[in-house]
Amino acid sequence: MKGTIVILAAGQGTRMKSDLPKVLHRIAGKPMLRHVIDTARDLAPERIVVVHGHEGAKVREAITDEDLLWVEQAEQLGTGHAVGQALDALIGETTLVLYGDVPLITPLTLERLLVKLEQADLCVLTAELEDPTGYGRILRQGEALTRIVEEKDATDEEREIREINSGIMAFRTELLRECIRDLDNDNAQGEFYLTDCVAIARDAGHRVTAVKAEDAIEIQGVNDRVQLAALERAWQLRKATELMKAGVTLRDPGRVDIRGALFFGRDCEIDVGCVVEGDVVLGDRVYIGPNCVLRDCTLEDDTRVEANSVIEQSRVGRGCRIGPFARLRPGTRLDSGARVGNFVEIKNSHIGSGSKVNHLSYIGDTEMGEAVNIGAGTITCNYDGANKHRTVIGDRAFIGSDTQLVAPVTVGSDATIGAGSTITRDAPAGELTLSRAKQTTITGWQRPKKEGR
Ligand code: UD1
Ligand code: CA
Repeated sequence: MKGTIVILAAGQGTRMKSDLPKVLHRIAGKPMLRHVIDTARDLAPERIVVVHGHEGAKVREAITDEDLLWVEQAEQLGTGHAVGQALDALIGETTLVLYGDVPLITPLTLERLLVKLEQADLCVLTAELEDPTGYGRILRQGEALTRIVEEKDATDEEREIREINSGIMAFRTELLRECIRDLDNDNAQGEFYLTDCVAIARDAGHRVTAVKAEDAIEIQGVNDRVQLAALERAWQLRKATELMKAGVTLRDPGRVDIRGALFFGRDCEIDVGCVVEGDVVLGDRVYIGPNCVLRDCTLEDDTRVEANSVIEQSRVGRGCRIGPFARLRPGTRLDSGARVGNFVEIKNSHIGSGSKVNHLSYIGDTEMGEAVNIGAGTITCNYDGANKHRTVIGDRAFIGSDTQLVAPVTVGSDATIGAGSTITRDAPAGELTLSRAKQTTITGWQRPKKEGR
């Protein structure tokens, strides 16, 4: 695109009732303003200008792109005034005005607007709504646009009109400059309305036209948290549809949340209630059970994650089985065929191929070989209160249930550890090691009886 995209983001967002500036509230894990900037970038404009308001510092802290041009609108005197603050920053033939709180607008729709502008001087993005309440209405004479009237300034008859102003407009930059100069604030809200540019341009004989958005959700703005939630759902449904069309089975497209990038092979299946964050890569035929959270992880072919498991910054090989109720914390690597069962936590550890940690265990800072069997309730005591230490477990070792491995410690390959042991020194390969008080029986012992009987 030859020209500038101006993103209006100075509004207060009072109805969010939040300490966070409105445009930083998130949709799909990403601030609304970030969505709009990313969409703007898709059009490859010469410049992107963001008009920010009183909480600009917080917004700029959150959005650190170096090439953005920030303009302050110290007082919010209306959308026309906001664009007015950006006039000095405009370069190129065309100016496209977007809103920081209208996050679902797509590059495709904006392209249509820009193409239409090639035959005009001003082009407005409109939509037909069942309920147009609150929006500016589009007034036409025949096909031609004559004026936009704000709800608060409209007559009863004008309020019946269901074609509304999305707020998004494209201008020939020269015309925009002229129109902004001519704006006044003689209206119900005492604001400088950008929408008045339509009547000004038309009265001066310029060509004013419009494009209708095909899907009204694209032009929906966020004023409160109810609308925020509605757009989140709409975004998620759009994403879910995209995933299903690309070959992922979703048990219910209404009950999955993608807050990052999901990459996938063939025939993956995601059950209800899952959340995907950051970059998640699934191989072929990966199954994710209900209510799982996957954050920045890779799961290779044929791996199954059963219900209620949480996996973060981990790499899982082929054919592994995880959960239900498992937690893989950052730095976990499972080789092919490994199993991690219920109520098991693994952190910063490498689990060799075919090894099993099936029940109620904590494995931290551990290097584990292949075909190891970890009994129920095994704990690596990796932290001495000051430093973390490593545990090394050789191939085919068998760790009896309820064992504590006090790191740093090494269990040799083919070693067996007796159940209930506290292992503080290295256990040699191939041998049975146990630390356990000898079991005794006191024959004829009587339970104490209550006094006075
Ligand atoms: C505006 C339009 C209305 C349209 C609606 C679509 C005008 C006069 N009205 O109304 O026709 O149907 O959007 O949602 O343009 N902003 C600033 N500085 C300001 C005022 C607003 O940056 O001084 C920004 C806000 O942050 C927001 C956008 O402009 O992103 C729209 O402002 P808002 O007050 O919500 O406009 P509406 O009254 O809803
Ligand atoms: Ca609004």
